[in-house]
Amino acid sequence: MNQLIVETQNLNFSYTKTRKDIESLELKVPKGSIYGFLGPNGSGKSTTIRLILGLLKKQSGKVALFGETFDGKSRLRSLGEIGALIENPSLYSHLNALENLRIAANYRQNISSERIDEVLKTVKLSYAKNKKVKAFSLGMKQRLGLAISLLSNPELIILDEPTNGLDPKGIIEMRELIKDLNKKFGTTIFISSHLLSEIEKTCTHVGIIRNGKMLFQDTVKALKESKGKKIMVDFEIDKFIDAMTVFENLGKENTSLTNDFIQIEVKDKNEITLIIDALRAQKVAVYQVSIKNNLEELFLSLTEN
Ligand SMILES: Nc1ncnc2c1ncn2[C@@H]1O[C@H](COP(=O)(O)OP(=O)(O)O)[C@@H](O)[C@H]1O
Ligand SMILES: [Mg+2]
Repeated sequence: MNQLIVETQNLNFSYTKTRKDIESLELKVPKGSIYGFLGPNGSGKSTTIRLILGLLKKQSGKVALFGETFDGKSRLRSLGEIGALIENPSLYSHLNALENLRIAANYRQNISSERIDEVLKTVKLSYAKNKKVKAFSLGMKQRLGLAISLLSNPELIILDEPTNGLDPKGIIEMRELIKDLNKKFGTTIFISSHLLSEIEKTCTHVGIIRNGKMLFQDTVKALKESKGKKIMVDFEIDKFIDAMTVFENLGKENTSLTNDFIQIEVKDKNEITLIIDALRAQKVAVYQVSIKNNLEELFLSLTEN
């Protein structure tokens, strides 16, 4: 059976009385996976991460880590096995990388100086270990933050939008690092992002959240398959006969729903524009275009620009 490293059941949370920020969330993160937690800005990713880590108090539901329900003592034990990089890592900028790691090691148990060298090597910062952090790029700071979270050799690493604000080189370095950690040490990685392309490049599993609700959760392979499916689009038009002629000329199969609505299958969003142009060229008014497949509509909101 595939063991779950993080599992939530019916997780709910609201910052205010007026709305639910996390609603009935059922997260399933398999052991050994790179799990991409994907959602537009404000969808509840950071809130969920804070709930998992116990930095926010859940209002109902269950959080299980490493197969144990997260409360009291088991929580403390579990947290020792998690490395988290959320928000910008708090680093001493007037100290060098090695000194930062030594300070962080002092807060943890039994971290040898060999381990400090190892994590520096893992995040590819050995060359800069004597350099002051204030001279680091954002990507280097993120990697040093990751190195700190790796000190106690965690089984699970949680990263909240680790590539945010990084330049393209920094993004690639972080992506490679994540894959490496997973491959070499079998570390389970939970990573949030608002970019579909980022998750597709890095992850094995994905959960898509919007308005605090999980809309899709499966393997990245299954995600790609469902993305390949055709999109059904409803067009609200005025001149029914003229519109049908346009669709026939474009070689589009169609189903008329009513005299005002026609449903068409398209392969991507560019085709929608082509159809609108063709309809407008024949003076057919287009009042409304709606994409029927919610998942598809969701994907469109998760792409760059
Ligand atoms: N401290 C807070 N107080 C009140 N509302 C908050 C707070 N933090 C986040 N929110 C709201 O909760 C929702 C989810 O936010 P967040 O978890 O930060 O989303 P994401 O990380 O996906 O961008 C948003 O509507 C956001 O405005
Ligand atoms: Mg966030």
